[in-house]
Amino acid sequence: MKKSNFLVFSLVVAVALMAFATVSFAGPVVIKFSHVVAENTPKGQMANKFKELVEKRLPGKVEVEVFPNSQLFGDNKVLEAMLLGDVHMAAPSLSKFKKYTKSLQLYDLPFLFKDMDAVSTFQNGPYGQKMLMSLKKKGLVGLGYLHNGLKQLSSSSPLRVPADAQKKKFRIMSSDVLAAQFEAVGAMPLKKPFSEVFTLLQTRAIDGQENTWSNIYSKKFFEVQGYITESNHGLLDYMIVTSSEFWMGLSDDLRTGIKASLDEAIIFGNKVAAQKSVEDRQKIIDSKRSKIIQLTDAERQLWVDKMKPVWKKFEGQIGKDYIDAAIASNK
Ligand code: SIN
Repeated sequence: MKKSNFLVFSLVVAVALMAFATVSFAGPVVIKFSHVVAENTPKGQMANKFKELVEKRLPGKVEVEVFPNSQLFGDNKVLEAMLLGDVHMAAPSLSKFKKYTKSLQLYDLPFLFKDMDAVSTFQNGPYGQKMLMSLKKKGLVGLGYLHNGLKQLSSSSPLRVPADAQKKKFRIMSSDVLAAQFEAVGAMPLKKPFSEVFTLLQTRAIDGQENTWSNIYSKKFFEVQGYITESNHGLLDYMIVTSSEFWMGLSDDLRTGIKASLDEAIIFGNKVAAQKSVEDRQKIIDSKRSKIIQLTDAERQLWVDKMKPVWKKFEGQIGKDYIDAAIASNK
């Protein structure tokens, strides 16, 4: 064989071997799913259910690694990490997307939704569905919503009327609407990651925080907060997100199988959320560590009157038509 022919032959063999190696050693697609809450929460259970379903539906083709409790990324880093390809799925609270889209601020408006059925109605409607695509320009895709529930106010001193919150420090998620909500009652909001909340409360660096029954219970906030006001004043829900690059890089059959498993896991997670908000509330009452304060209608109205003007401030950023659609979902 001539020297030049031998070189071409060797090159062809090398390319063929490399192609063979890629095909035969390409393992399953690994999906790293990072979240910040405990495993026994709606989100923790949904993520584990998703792993179970997708690995059953696509055996050997997809593997899911779930990282709970901010083990892999905290809520202030996870979306950046996703854009870098270091994590593939997450379900941050809707209050944590401020850097990526303004429209999701809708979900933080105080006293917007009367109950979780109204939230579902809005999310399943045209505006809620449009919002799943609001991160597209930033390279992220919303794959669905997951419920946690309505938020309660916990504090080291009793909160009955807005004046009780004056000059008190409250941890909030990274949302300007939530900051405005606490400023409206003369309180001092501090944006802090979820992973720091327990220590901040325990050391009395802050006076209180707002969260759902399942987060207050699973992260033991009730053990270091003497009072919980059952205010149901705001929403804590999630958007399950992935990066456009990862999602569009999957073959059609994998994408379809993953999405079908996720949809099923969300239905399961929403059931867990509804159960947990009743059960975890009761466990907190039974523990006698924290006193639950029930507001009279008149007391609750005082909070509404103080906090609701916040809506106007954010109407331009969110869009009045979105707010009107959310209000309509309460009917
Ligand atoms: C979460 O439920 O993911 C965390 C909520 C929070 O940061 O308070």
